[in-house]
Amino acid sequence: MSLTLSNRSANVKPSSTLAITAKAKALRAEGRDIVGFGAGEPDFATPSNICDAAIKAINDGFTKYTPASGITDLKKAVCAKFEKFNHLHYDPDQIIICNGGKHALTNIFDAIINPGDEVIIPAPYWLSYPEMVKLSDGKPVFVYSTAEQGYKVTADLIREAVTDKTKALVLNTPNNPTGMVYSRKDLEEIAALAVEKDFYVVADEMYEALIYTGEDHVSIASLGDEIYKRTITCSGLSKSYAMTGWRVGYAGAPIEITKRMSAMQSHATSNVNSIAQKAALEALTGPTDEMEKMKAEFDRRRQYMYKRLCAMPHLSCLEPEGAFYAFVDASEVCELSYKGKKIENAAGLAAILLDEFDTAVIPCQDFGYPKHIRLSYAISMEQIEKGLDRIENLMKEL
Ligand SMILES: Cc1ncc(COP(=O)(O)O)c(C=O)c1O
Repeated sequence: MSLTLSNRSANVKPSSTLAITAKAKALRAEGRDIVGFGAGEPDFATPSNICDAAIKAINDGFTKYTPASGITDLKKAVCAKFEKFNHLHYDPDQIIICNGGKHALTNIFDAIINPGDEVIIPAPYWLSYPEMVKLSDGKPVFVYSTAEQGYKVTADLIREAVTDKTKALVLNTPNNPTGMVYSRKDLEEIAALAVEKDFYVVADEMYEALIYTGEDHVSIASLGDEIYKRTITCSGLSKSYAMTGWRVGYAGAPIEITKRMSAMQSHATSNVNSIAQKAALEALTGPTDEMEKMKAEFDRRRQYMYKRLCAMPHLSCLEPEGAFYAFVDASEVCELSYKGKKIENAAGLAAILLDEFDTAVIPCQDFGYPKHIRLSYAISMEQIEKGLDRIENLMKEL
């Protein structure tokens, strides 16, 4: 045997969003006044009632192993939330508590994919999905959508990608990176296709609490018994409760899938940190006024950012409806030159913005759109104003 590494690990790209965020942090440490639009996390502190519940858990000695798939009280709280907010009935034994939404998703893919199975991923997509599918020995199949389609795939578009190897569709609403929200009608059509063609739907509803249009979030699993049986609904506390570092996510699924996920988790990571589980229980059952305040502030920033972006030359953007991202079409910019050199793609634009304008943005090649950038508005209004001024200065120079 030689000291080779696995083919599976060789095929996985490191997360470019985390890399850009780390680079912006390093430049800041060198003393540069960097505005970071890369953040995939709220700039707010975790609400104090949630922190207090964690401190109480420590003081009460709640510091031992828990059941691997999560404490019953937390599972019951997740069920109550599914019932009330998503109009979905799950029993506690259909719930698994995982180390963040990412872990819930990797568990799901590991539970359903066999080597060579195809997983349809609508583009633009969150950059981790293809890597997760490949890690589970599946094959990502991309279905692209345009700005005219609101960056949303229709059942007809998905149908064209379905083969006899299609195992699942990943559906993310509200969407990262586009901020778009699927309507009930969109979802009814997609659900009908999933039932007709008999594939799973992995519904990633991580941003479900962050919709700004007044529309209700619709969970595809709530649209009938047949689609319920084929859907794994995944969410978490990271984004809407400002709890990214606590690492609590969860999934609700048909019992046989939850059992598989729980068995795998019992060998891989065991339970989510016991203290974080108590904090999550408080988040789901305690007062929600802090969450509402955060949402209102995101909305204010969203409207400001959208207005500013629309007024800039060379860039275009749809009005984000949910999550905390603006997805900006920079294809016109890619045709232009800066200091005598063609910009070429979003990575080129992001490099100029960071090197010359102290502004970090996410180039979206790893989200399937190499001429788009993603700007997060989960940073302070003051930072947003400063960063948009800088982007505008570049656009006016071009
Ligand atoms: C669409 C989407 N799903 C899931 C996650 C994972 O969240 P967590 O931090 O809880 O693992 C993220 C985080 O960026 C996300 O954007």
